[in-house]
Amino acid sequence: MKRLCIAVVAAVLCAVSPAGAADQIVIKFSHVTSAETPKGRGAERFRELAEKYTGGKVRVEVYPNSQLYKDKEEMEALQLGAVQMLAPSLAKFGPLGAKEFEVFDLPYILPDKAALRRSLEGAVGTGLMTKLQRYGIYGLAFWDNGFKVMTANKPLRMPDDFRGVKLRIQSSKVLDAQMRALGALPQVLAFSEVYQAMQTGVVDGGENTPSNVYTQKMHEVQKYLTVSNHGYIGYAVITNLRFWEGLPVDIRKQLERAMKEATEYANDIAQKENDEAMAAIRASGKTEIIELTPAETAAWRKALQPVYTQVEGRIGKALIQEMVKEAQGTAN
Ligand code: LMR
Repeated sequence: MKRLCIAVVAAVLCAVSPAGAADQIVIKFSHVTSAETPKGRGAERFRELAEKYTGGKVRVEVYPNSQLYKDKEEMEALQLGAVQMLAPSLAKFGPLGAKEFEVFDLPYILPDKAALRRSLEGAVGTGLMTKLQRYGIYGLAFWDNGFKVMTANKPLRMPDDFRGVKLRIQSSKVLDAQMRALGALPQVLAFSEVYQAMQTGVVDGGENTPSNVYTQKMHEVQKYLTVSNHGYIGYAVITNLRFWEGLPVDIRKQLERAMKEATEYANDIAQKENDEAMAAIRASGKTEIIELTPAETAAWRKALQPVYTQVEGRIGKALIQEMVKEAQGTAN
């Protein structure tokens, strides 16, 4: 907390008297992944476009790899105005109070990317973004990462294999319920702490997208990777509401244009980035890749089905039903 306060004070002072042009608006865009991920590349693209469309009136500083803040701290820093932009995964909005975001953590909720787009761009996504305003946050866009794999130091093929295995999760109660339904012991850790926790045996494994596994070198400290595609990781790009509302209207329009194009770019490259990361993990030979048979996948689905009712009280039955409808393409 002390470290966070010092960082916040320093950041606020910098924003008041930025180096260079006195009237230049500075956007600090903090995130936790490598610059070589869908999110990292999206943030860089936004930086280029925002600076171009505002004719240099806005300077965007991108801080990847938790350089400024870890998971929970970055959300606090945004609310305090120490950073202006973040792109936390949808699994990290629960501690803020926006528990509904965790609907996207439900196992197997989204059959494919088309269903995902329909949900995020439809009523579910719009409703979630609107809710953020009560926390002093303005939602700008949804960015893709991809579907998750499981990694561990033992082979995970059937639900029985999870018994007693310590698996790192993000701060989502739905993910907690998911791991417990499989018989595993979930442990919340910040993203920046995962590699070391896996290396030292603090946890036995975790779940993430191939691009995150590869860029954090998790595959070098995990003996097995199961291609399960059991859930999804995506992001909400967010800004401080007061900062956003205080921007001149023309600047806001130019930034919206930059964000729209950066979003198309980020969502276009996400699948390719993950496919390439998966190929690189395979080629490294450092971890054994397990492909699930249809019977094994069916066993995972069956074991995970109770999670839907277990978390109804937290995220709302109506929202889950709405999401299932949208995911199936039956929403009107
Ligand atoms: C994680 O914490 O595992 C990921 O969601 C990190 C990220 O932002 O992709």
